[in-house]
Amino acid sequence: MVTILTKENSIANHYLVELRDINIQKDRLRFRRNLERLGEITAYEISKTLAFTPSSVDTPLGVASHNVLEQQPVLATIIRAGLPFHQGLLNVFDRADSAFIAAYRHTKKSGEIEIHKKYSNTPNLDNRVVIIADPMLATGQSLVLCCKELLAEYAIKELHIAVVIASEEGIEHVRAFLPDAHLWVGAVDKEMTSKAYIVPGLGDAGDLAYGNK
Ligand code: URA
Repeated sequence: MVTILTKENSIANHYLVELRDINIQKDRLRFRRNLERLGEITAYEISKTLAFTPSSVDTPLGVASHNVLEQQPVLATIIRAGLPFHQGLLNVFDRADSAFIAAYRHTKKSGEIEIHKKYSNTPNLDNRVVIIADPMLATGQSLVLCCKELLAEYAIKELHIAVVIASEEGIEHVRAFLPDAHLWVGAVDKEMTSKAYIVPGLGDAGDLAYGNK
């Protein structure tokens, strides 16, 4: 299932426009903050689909009843561009455990792109709802590789993938290889460059958030 946040008008559109704007994105602090704000909005939207359970709380004047989350999800992130987006999710799911994964792309002489996982630090994900955050879904290869490794190692109960901008190709790749995952996307762009940058996209999210290598 794919949910596109900007299909309906909301403040999410404003943060996305600022992320894309070549003049505004020069302000690194604002760029990270806008990624964080989109993480918060995405978390709120995802929260509506999670399992809730009845609960009651003592107030100074009586007892109030509300449904509350049955269990906090685990928030997984592909570093480095995922970090501010992850922080936004964590601001909302503020008791969640976190998992961190690093993967890199290697372009072979033949032009073929290989994805290698470099590092991962995850809690036990058995029977947990997992939200994996990766702001730019270009080819989808590294995201699918990371998710497949997590799914092979753990009996994940439910997998959500949170993305800010996705290419159409990336969405198709995820749908083909992770048909049970729920994909949450800020906006969808049609094209990609030969180096797998999304067009019009926003540029290199990692560099914009943290500087060039
Ligand atoms: N990663 C980015 O930061 N930008 C893209 O356009 C694609 C992948």
